Amino acid sequence: MLYSFVRPLLFCQEAELNHHFTLKMLDRASCLLPDRALTHRPVTVMGIEFPNCVGLAAGLDKNGAHIVGLGKLGFGFLEVGTVTPVAQSGNPKPRLFRLPAHQAIINRMGFNNDGVDALVANVSATRSRYAGVLGINIGKNKDTPNDRAVNDYLLALRKVYQHADYITANISSPNTVGLRELQSADAIKSLLEGLKNAQVELAANFGYKPIAIKIAPDLSDEALVKLATIFKQFEVDGIIATNTTIDKSAVASARYGTEEGGLSGAPVRAQSTHVIAVLADALGGDIPIIGVGGITSGAEALEKLRAGASLVQLYSGLIYRGPSLVSEVVKACAQV
Ligand SMILES: Cc1cc2nc3c(=O)[nH]c(=O)nc-3n(C[C@H](O)[C@H](O)[C@H](O)COP(=O)(O)O)c2cc1C
Repeated sequence: MLYSFVRPLLFCQEAELNHHFTLKMLDRASCLLPDRALTHRPVTVMGIEFPNCVGLAAGLDKNGAHIVGLGKLGFGFLEVGTVTPVAQSGNPKPRLFRLPAHQAIINRMGFNNDGVDALVANVSATRSRYAGVLGINIGKNKDTPNDRAVNDYLLALRKVYQHADYITANISSPNTVGLRELQSADAIKSLLEGLKNAQVELAANFGYKPIAIKIAPDLSDEALVKLATIFKQFEVDGIIATNTTIDKSAVASARYGTEEGGLSGAPVRAQSTHVIAVLADALGGDIPIIGVGGITSGAEALEKLRAGASLVQLYSGLIYRGPSLVSEVVKACAQV
């Protein structure tokens, strides 16, 4: 109710300015908000007990600087990042565009973040005030060539490991040139080999932390089936499906519809759900899927769960519907 009243005012601001303004307001209000992870139905996925099946998707809190405030919106888990080994400013502004008629967003942020050390410092400072599950999403720096990408992922993994409940390797952002090529069979095999070896080593000191891989919605069914075989071979702990799409045909005639970048929100929903269904079939229940892409209602979250996801995440829907979407989706998930 309150958000539908406030939203037109928020949307008057330029999108990225508004993003920072809203997070600042949330931080200020957080001491007034009650602690609540809505616990309609806890679920155990990747060996972790989640208070509910609804998470915040990566990219909204890239530096893990707002986990206390975001934790009070009722999510069962938060995924922060994508964080890279070294701080980088991302693409020139403007790089974030709202397409309200389509309940969509186009972004070409380009992994703007303060670097892994800053994220770890933020998380360490506030973790005691956030009791929920925390995922940390890692990526490679723009200037690191793909043949050295594994080093970046390993560097970030080693730094975040002890601070995360699970770690996501993001190989599917369309805004870092060449990143999605890491989804090809050879590249993914060497990445997974590196990550799984490091996981064994780190587990000896810090306990076993699951590693999930985040994939694009633009992969063919054939590529997904091949990837599923590789994911099983390397015993990946979870798959996050999906990131934003590069197919912007659905919004071509809208203002900003032809901007460079990845499209999220309602137009990616069906494709993300299709990817989940194909993967779920190919994985045969061996690896859990976290479903994300275009969820703007409880019913749409249920579609993802029925397609084979065990958990869901929200980003664009939260911008258009506000925090009430979280409780709506939590209630809907309890029906499964
Ligand atoms: C502005 C913006 C920035 C994003 N940044 C990241 C990111 O840094 N890492 C990542 O894995 N996904 C990122 N995403 C993708 C989202 O996590 C999510 O996978 C995608 O938007 C689809 O979900 P949605 O339709 O609910 O937004 C970003 C999305 C948006 C809109």
